[in-house]
Amino acid sequence: MNIVVLAGGISTEREISIVSGTQVCKALREKGHRAILMDVYFGNVEIQPANAFPENYDTDAAAAYMRGFDGNIEAAKAAQKEFFGPKVLEICREADVVFLALHGENGENGKVQAAFDLLGIVYTGSGYLGSALAMDKALSKKLFREGGVPTPGGVTLHQGETVKSTAGYNVGLPCVVKPSCGGSSVGVFIAETEEAFQAAVAEAFSYESEIVVESYIKGREFSVGVVDGEAYPVIEIAPIEGFYDYKNKYQAGSTIETCPAEISAEQTARMQEYAVLAYNVLKLENYARVDFMMDDNGDMYCLEANTLPGMTPTSLLPQEAAALGMTFADLCEKLIQVSLK
Ligand code: DAL
Ligand code: MG
Repeated sequence: MNIVVLAGGISTEREISIVSGTQVCKALREKGHRAILMDVYFGNVEIQPANAFPENYDTDAAAAYMRGFDGNIEAAKAAQKEFFGPKVLEICREADVVFLALHGENGENGKVQAAFDLLGIVYTGSGYLGSALAMDKALSKKLFREGGVPTPGGVTLHQGETVKSTAGYNVGLPCVVKPSCGGSSVGVFIAETEEAFQAAVAEAFSYESEIVVESYIKGREFSVGVVDGEAYPVIEIAPIEGFYDYKNKYQAGSTIETCPAEISAEQTARMQEYAVLAYNVLKLENYARVDFMMDDNGDMYCLEANTLPGMTPTSLLPQEAAALGMTFADLCEKLIQVSLK
């Protein structure tokens, strides 16, 4: 198949997206597809639509080209009209499918999906509505509550409102403060004191005008992939130091990941059931990865769903697929198959 792997973009997870996209592009080429890597924002002026999908292709060179644009992100953000960079749409229209390796704003949040729907471009992952709902942690929390998915108690705050104490929000200390639509834990803080809470709120508002404050669940952290409506094995994530923040997510060796997680069969089944429920409540399609905490009493809390989960070498969904005997390339192929159904 002729495949565009779309990555990069302007979110705080741009770098991660380039790593995901590079891995996915190489894996799809291994599987015999004519995949190419493109930056959603900057495209690749080297590529001509007429021969966009060459037999031989240097994925690393394409990734280097994308990284070369990092300094221009702010200018690119200002030029919204240029969102789909040179020839990007033209080439996506020539592809059999676009593999979305985007993370965060303008990629994971449904906007690209909506544009592609209107243009008849086929892509991997969830549609525009599920993507938008899952990207918004404040809305997700409301839908989880209504749909019977356990989630930590919490509230949404808007920039400009008077910030109360944690008691005023009934979340206690420590509590978690995060931008509503962030990813990879960028701008996420665990506040242990009232002073730290106020500082965390101010800092989180520097990322977004809407933030979520929720109770901190002390316990173990897990994630469950859902592919085509079916749960993958549960993976446990145990950072050696601190919480599963940006560094612990992407620095090899900083987190111990165990898959299948060493929890009881009943707990595994329950978490998988909640993962599928979360996936359905948020109207997700094709695949996603749902994150959980479990406290010392065995109570589970769903934190969020990721509609375009990381596909880097240390990412979780690829490790879950490996526990099922699938290689990284098998997983990429599978995600395309389910999205084309
Ligand atoms: N947001 C990152 C990429 C993840 O969920 O894996
Ligand atoms: Mg996320």
